[in-house]
Amino acid sequence: MKAPDNSEDSTVGTSHDLSERARRHLWLEVTRMGSFSQTNEIPVIVRGEGAYLWDAKGNRYFDGLSALYTNQLGYGRPDIADVAARQILELSYFPLWTYAHPRAIELAEKIASLAPGDLNRVFFSTGGGDAVETAWKLARQYHRLRGDMDRYKIISRNIAYHGTTMGALAITSVDAYRENFQPLTPGGIKVTNTDFYHAVEFADDHKAFGLWSAGQIEATIVREGPESVAAVILEPVQNAGGCFTPPPGYWQEVRAICDRYGVLLISDEVICAFGRLGTWFGGQKYDYVPDIICCAKGITSGYSPLGAIIVSDRVAEPFMHGDTTFSHGFTYAGHPVSCAVALKCIEIFEDEHILENVRDNEEYFEASLESLLDLPIVGDVRGAGYFWGIELVKDKEKKEAFVGDEAHYLLRNYVVPEMFRRGLYCRVDDRGETVVQLAPPLISTRADIDFMAGTLREVFDGAHRHLLKA
Ligand SMILES: Cc1ncc(COP(=O)(O)O)c(C=O)c1O
Repeated sequence: MKAPDNSEDSTVGTSHDLSERARRHLWLEVTRMGSFSQTNEIPVIVRGEGAYLWDAKGNRYFDGLSALYTNQLGYGRPDIADVAARQILELSYFPLWTYAHPRAIELAEKIASLAPGDLNRVFFSTGGGDAVETAWKLARQYHRLRGDMDRYKIISRNIAYHGTTMGALAITSVDAYRENFQPLTPGGIKVTNTDFYHAVEFADDHKAFGLWSAGQIEATIVREGPESVAAVILEPVQNAGGCFTPPPGYWQEVRAICDRYGVLLISDEVICAFGRLGTWFGGQKYDYVPDIICCAKGITSGYSPLGAIIVSDRVAEPFMHGDTTFSHGFTYAGHPVSCAVALKCIEIFEDEHILENVRDNEEYFEASLESLLDLPIVGDVRGAGYFWGIELVKDKEKKEAFVGDEAHYLLRNYVVPEMFRRGLYCRVDDRGETVVQLAPPLISTRADIDFMAGTLREVFDGAHRHLLKA
């Protein structure tokens, strides 16, 4: 099966026509719809192949964000399409409500074999936010089953993003997503994240910062009352805010704190699992075993929607007796086509040494981006694997951020269009600090890394000169 080339297909429509139809009828996610007009068109992506995308005007872009941290293996693979087509013919759909189907069984078994520690039980969802929400509900019921009736709170970190459904939103800490939906689901408690670049009081002492940050979680549990706290949820590397990596010893300390107070530790790996950090899961990179992992996105490389939580034997055990039921589920959770696609993706990871590619190039990627630190507006480079953030600053000495109109101008009017014009699709984020986020497909080569770093150099250099003139 070969991917069609829509860019010249007259039935799809011209670029302007498509954009106009989108403007009339399509409601884009998390998008200022009012910013589009007849002249400011909605960009339309029509095709993907490998690490590249094409828009409706025929322009080609390197996918520096794996679409949305999802496209691990590259677009347009006929082998994945074949598997999906075969699964549609064999069993196009059946729910996991009471019945099982072979692909869900095989995938659960495979995931259990890859996950750290005793995380052997897989509950499927359709994506990341519902996986997060599932994990919170499961944690609450777990405690109730053990007679701990009041543990409902969940602790997450400042600026972290965990999804937009009402439950996940209470865990998400980005104000822009929350402000219009108050009152939120009760129980979402916030603690400090691991933004070391701005923790100037710790100077170069990464370890002390890690212990202090973990200590803030303990202080929060104690302040809230341990008998009311169900879980702590953290990403291995926090995306929002720009790739906050864990300081040395941080995860181990958080694990010990959770154990001390009987709180479950949830690792939200919606971005980080399936190779983003060069390992299957965050625990293998940073040496910890959580009680629950949330995953989605890269599990199918974006070829079909799927999410999951992976639960330890200890946490699953109280659910496995008598008439106990986890009364929670989604029609499309563990969809057979998505499970078949995920199994194929995992096979490709193994056959084509995808994790090894990330690990082999990690240092090269880091060094390439760090070479940008000589530019006046590049303040910090941080991340791991194929997951990096570059913080842009107004004043390097003071680590002063761009704010307000200046930030808006810099990002929306200069950096984003200039990256796009030069054929690089990635994202700038000013939900916390101003960061450019890079997360290319895991098949990307050193030449691709050179392209990203080279393009960013031109764009940041231009942005600086532009700001001087303004
Ligand atoms: C860490 C994390 N958790 C949860 C989510 C929500 O996933 P979804 O958009 O599939 O609901 C995301 C989405 O980007 C995420 O990055």
